[in-house]
Amino acid sequence: MEFSDVEGDLNEILLTQEQIHDKIDELAREIERDYAGERILLVGVLRGAVMVMADLARALKVDIEMDWMAVSSYGTGTQSSGVVRILKDLDSDLTGRRVLIVEDIIDSGLTLSWLRGNLASRGAASVDICALLRKPEAVKVDVEVKYLGFDIPNKFVVGYGLDYAERYRNLRGVAVLAPHVYE
Ligand code: XMP
Ligand code: MG
Repeated sequence: MEFSDVEGDLNEILLTQEQIHDKIDELAREIERDYAGERILLVGVLRGAVMVMADLARALKVDIEMDWMAVSSYGTGTQSSGVVRILKDLDSDLTGRRVLIVEDIIDSGLTLSWLRGNLASRGAASVDICALLRKPEAVKVDVEVKYLGFDIPNKFVVGYGLDYAERYRNLRGVAVLAPHVYE
């Protein structure tokens, strides 16, 4: 779906498909360099990371494995609490593996810092993070993102996997949602 298909629902276009793809190619080159000669296990966080995962995996010029996790963080409304529940666990044994978590967006960072600790405790050789987007609030929690696409303003965004009530995930780019949609 294009921006023009839901024009009235969007306030501001942040990233086009081209900008995202160029950035993912850059990140893929860095990742190939850093993991030369080793097989990476990409762990996608459902459901938002589906598009990043699909494009990053195909941009990489090395053989990788993919697995998926679904988590939900307990919290009141939009505030994430840092207490995380696993809804779908990995199928892979992480012992000795080089794990790269693939995320769509880091907001408070609480979910991701919990997830990294959880995966590291399963005997992985390394656990690093690749995230397409990061909001400024993330700097409040100490979560090191080794591969970052873009820092974006502290506004609710949709597209490229990111949803509002499960909608707009199939938008090719990323845009700020217009308040009239959720107010
Ligand atoms: P943390 O724990 O970093 O949670 O606060 C990150 C999760 O919050 C969701 N999130 C968003 N989803 N547009 C969305 O569609 C946004 O602007 C946004 N900000 C945060 C998202 O599920 C992410 O995994
Ligand atoms: Mg969501």
